[in-house]
Amino acid sequence: MGIPVSGFSKKSKHDKIKWLAEAYFNDDATAIQTLKKYWNSDDRLQEMHDEFTENAISNYYLPFSVAPNFQINDTLYALPMVIEESSVVAAASNAAKFWMNRGGFKAEVISTVKTGQVHIDYFGNPAVLFSFFSEVKEKLIGSISEIQKNMKARGGGLIEIELKDETSKLMGYYELHCTFETLDAMGANFINSCLEEIADTFEAEANGYQAFETEGRGPKVVLSILSNYVPECLVKAWVSCELDHFSTEDIDGKEFADNFVRAVEMAKVEIRRAVTHNKGIMNGIDAVVLATGNDFRAVEAGVHAYASRNGNYTSLTDARIDEDTFTFSIEVPLALGTVGGLTSLHPLVKFALQLLRKPSASELMMIAAVAGLAQNFAAIRSLVTTGIQQGHMKMHLMNILNQMEATSEEKQKAIRHFTKNTVSHSAAVEFIEKLRN
Ligand code: MEV
Repeated sequence: MGIPVSGFSKKSKHDKIKWLAEAYFNDDATAIQTLKKYWNSDDRLQEMHDEFTENAISNYYLPFSVAPNFQINDTLYALPMVIEESSVVAAASNAAKFWMNRGGFKAEVISTVKTGQVHIDYFGNPAVLFSFFSEVKEKLIGSISEIQKNMKARGGGLIEIELKDETSKLMGYYELHCTFETLDAMGANFINSCLEEIADTFEAEANGYQAFETEGRGPKVVLSILSNYVPECLVKAWVSCELDHFSTEDIDGKEFADNFVRAVEMAKVEIRRAVTHNKGIMNGIDAVVLATGNDFRAVEAGVHAYASRNGNYTSLTDARIDEDTFTFSIEVPLALGTVGGLTSLHPLVKFALQLLRKPSASELMMIAAVAGLAQNFAAIRSLVTTGIQQGHMKMHLMNILNQMEATSEEKQKAIRHFTKNTVSHSAAVEFIEKLRN
């Protein structure tokens, strides 16, 4: 099944859509209309979006929302959040307001080092490889002087290159482990350019190296790439308050805090709970990462690997009670950038960064970590009290109403009705059907 095509990327946007409609939609005009409805009327803006990737045929909307009242280290922020899940922004905003009145969020960047590797095959005498490396190390560093000139001038660049013996993990496997400081850039392009240059120089030098010729086998570069595992690009955020701040009509503050801590302890030891717990954290982090034009796949990969750094996948957050004080914290690796990439190109990314007062990469790391902590706080608070569905379904109500193509008047009535009644899909459908009859 399926229809092959060649030269698709060479076709004009118009011809790509025509081909898709014929091949996959029986030439149905509504499919074409759907794509075109999402084109921007500003041709230049549309062209820029089309040029972000190959074979772009339309735009894919996600809501761009704002969660205000985030006090982080004495500065008040309104966080830009791009996410489709109905209740996430409401939860973030509630958590922000709660903590704003209790000293706000504190955050601190622990380190900002990123790494990249040149992965090498070598089956000769390790001592020969190590002595070759120490002879050529300065040449390897020198080979990237042009690439890193500007980065160096700003105080960043390559920090160190080490040769690592990985043969206990895989026969013949060595790596050039390179560490970098990329300042406000996420730095993927910079690091990869450096690595490829280092790899070329390494191979060129190895080709003429007498000891390898004598051995009859020299090292071979297999691949060079940055690592998205960034445990040395680490940020920490936390909140803290007296237990009685949690007291409500329904629950005593100490009991709430005990339940909260217990919920986090469960996520520390049980993988199925830990993954969902961390997914909730990523609701907040990804939303900020996306709004600010950063690479959420890189962040996701690095964060989850970090969650299993000790051999067991575990919670990224920690909660504890010391006497009358509750403290809730997160430690998370986040390689983010506030310059380069889409940051000066995508108008909404520019807007998001302006909204955050043009943060440095370190400031953005703290903001994103706080968004994750706030989200986790809101989720656990609901989970250990009312359950998650009450708030979630309240926000999801609008999606159900839109599915039913409810009018504004029907929506108003439904919202009024469901402030006092439990939302479920069937209850919402029944309510609208009754109105219509
Ligand atoms: C839903 O998107 C996120 C939660 O499942 C997180 C959690 O369970 O902690 C509510």
